[in-house]
Amino acid sequence: MRVDIISLFPEMFDGPFGHSIIKRAKDAELLSIGITNPRDFAFDKHKIVDDYPFGGGAGMVMKPEPLFRAVAYVTEQKSFLRRRIVLLCPGGTALTQDKVKELAAYEQLILLCGHYEGVDERVRTHLVDEVVSIGDYVLTGGELPAMVLTDAVARMLPGVLGSSSSAPHDSFYEGLLEHPQYTRPREFEGLEVPEVLVSGDHAKIDRWRRKQSLKNTLERRPDLLAGRELSKEDAKLLTEIKAERQADVSGS
Ligand code: ADE
Repeated sequence: MRVDIISLFPEMFDGPFGHSIIKRAKDAELLSIGITNPRDFAFDKHKIVDDYPFGGGAGMVMKPEPLFRAVAYVTEQKSFLRRRIVLLCPGGTALTQDKVKELAAYEQLILLCGHYEGVDERVRTHLVDEVVSIGDYVLTGGELPAMVLTDAVARMLPGVLGSSSSAPHDSFYEGLLEHPQYTRPREFEGLEVPEVLVSGDHAKIDRWRRKQSLKNTLERRPDLLAGRELSKEDAKLLTEIKAERQADVSGS
């Protein structure tokens, strides 16, 4: 996959993309990342990329021309069959694991990092395919969101994660939160690893893990369970969890 990021602050990406799994994915040529600065595409000698908003108001707005020209430059470098142009902005649709999977199916992603008070609306209406937000909070720019999106997409690409079984158990991969994990030592400062995990009974372990996933989801993200169609086994586990909760409440 090719990811092109259009950003006024290219140096910000050196750290996150220069280490660990993303670096390995780049070294293995599973992923290539390019950063293009829209300032290099500004018309005037002062390289101005923002301007006052028409109609007045506080803050500056990113001008359309440098962004359109930067994207044109990137798309002229190489043609990709399946390409998606995404603007990172708090007003976009939410980045979920399903959205990540969808974006991971493209050959090229072009990510536009917004700044200042926003970008000229013509970028949204006539340049990008979609607008994505990484959460209901406002950051100082689209750079961190572009890093988050790239990281989440990269780990979905075949071969990027060491073990091909790592991704399916992720929180959200199946719409549930992860079950807890333990490693050695078996006892740490009086805190023991659950007995079932050292029992060697894999059917029991799988059932325990599924139950913990459902329990974590019910406690921390009940919205993920609402409206979800449950398998017979999951419904049974949830009934057990709720009965145990009830017993806890009555007992305390
Ligand atoms: N730019 C600023 N805040 C953002 C957010 N939450 N998501 C995407 N882009 C942003």
